[in-house]
Amino acid sequence: MTLEEIKPEVIAICREVGQFIRDEAQAFDRSRIEFKHGFNNLVSYVDKEAEQRLVRNLKRLIPGSGFLAEEGTGSSTQSEFEWIIDPLDGTTNFMHGLPVFAISVALAKQGVPVLGVVYEVNRNECFHATTNSPAFCNDQPIQVSSVNELNESLLATGFPYNYLDKKEHYLEIIRQFLEKTHGIRRLGSAAIDLAYVACGRFEGFFEYNLNAWDVAAGALIVQQAGGTVTDFSGGNNFLHGGEIVAAGAVHPQMLELINAQWFKKKA
Ligand code: IPD
Ligand code: CA
Ligand code: CA
Repeated sequence: MTLEEIKPEVIAICREVGQFIRDEAQAFDRSRIEFKHGFNNLVSYVDKEAEQRLVRNLKRLIPGSGFLAEEGTGSSTQSEFEWIIDPLDGTTNFMHGLPVFAISVALAKQGVPVLGVVYEVNRNECFHATTNSPAFCNDQPIQVSSVNELNESLLATGFPYNYLDKKEHYLEIIRQFLEKTHGIRRLGSAAIDLAYVACGRFEGFFEYNLNAWDVAAGALIVQQAGGTVTDFSGGNNFLHGGEIVAAGAVHPQMLELINAQWFKKKA
């Protein structure tokens, strides 16, 4: 099967699992929150069940393919293909009844994402791309923003839980962006932040301490929509390196500011 043949199947699987998540959201009871290792690391049966459904169905598309999934379903294999999955990105939103969460599925070939799907469950918007195609939202082609001035930009970020070593640097970056832009949003789903950069709703997004499953699909969609994705040094280590800057035409200005503050020695 080619990537273009696999993609509609992945989209259909995400839409079906999205329906399950949507149904569970109606009646979610906070007593069913569980805690994983680390501060504020929440999970529920919905994350786990959604992931199992995704893995079960994706496995059939490429027999023998491996999995890197947030809740640990499936395992890596010798195959050149690996699915990188966040079954519910925006778990904290989901648990508090906020309607901003998504399924994020990427397919990597020899470690490089070649297909990405981000399905925003409540808006029924499916963002998708492959390395051979432009990016889409549902069936509409999308493009990143051409705005190249910070003072005309709306940005997105997340507030990491574990970043004490770098907290002052991060807060300084946020302070400076607040003074220079239309503002900063914190939606609570990195996959949606990236999808919204891809379609130009946000000019740019940056965050620290994310995992590969948060960004693999969204970063590819941004790139295929004409955007730039780097780490805080301007390099390519954003998938496993925990630092990401993804933007349209304002990327150089964002990177310059982030880079200058992030690597500054604090007194
Ligand atoms: C989280 C979201 C959030 C980001 C966190 C992630 P989860 O993923 O993407 O926006 O700030 O760092 O862990 O836990 O909802 O899958
Ligand atoms: Ca996530
Ligand atoms: Ca998750």
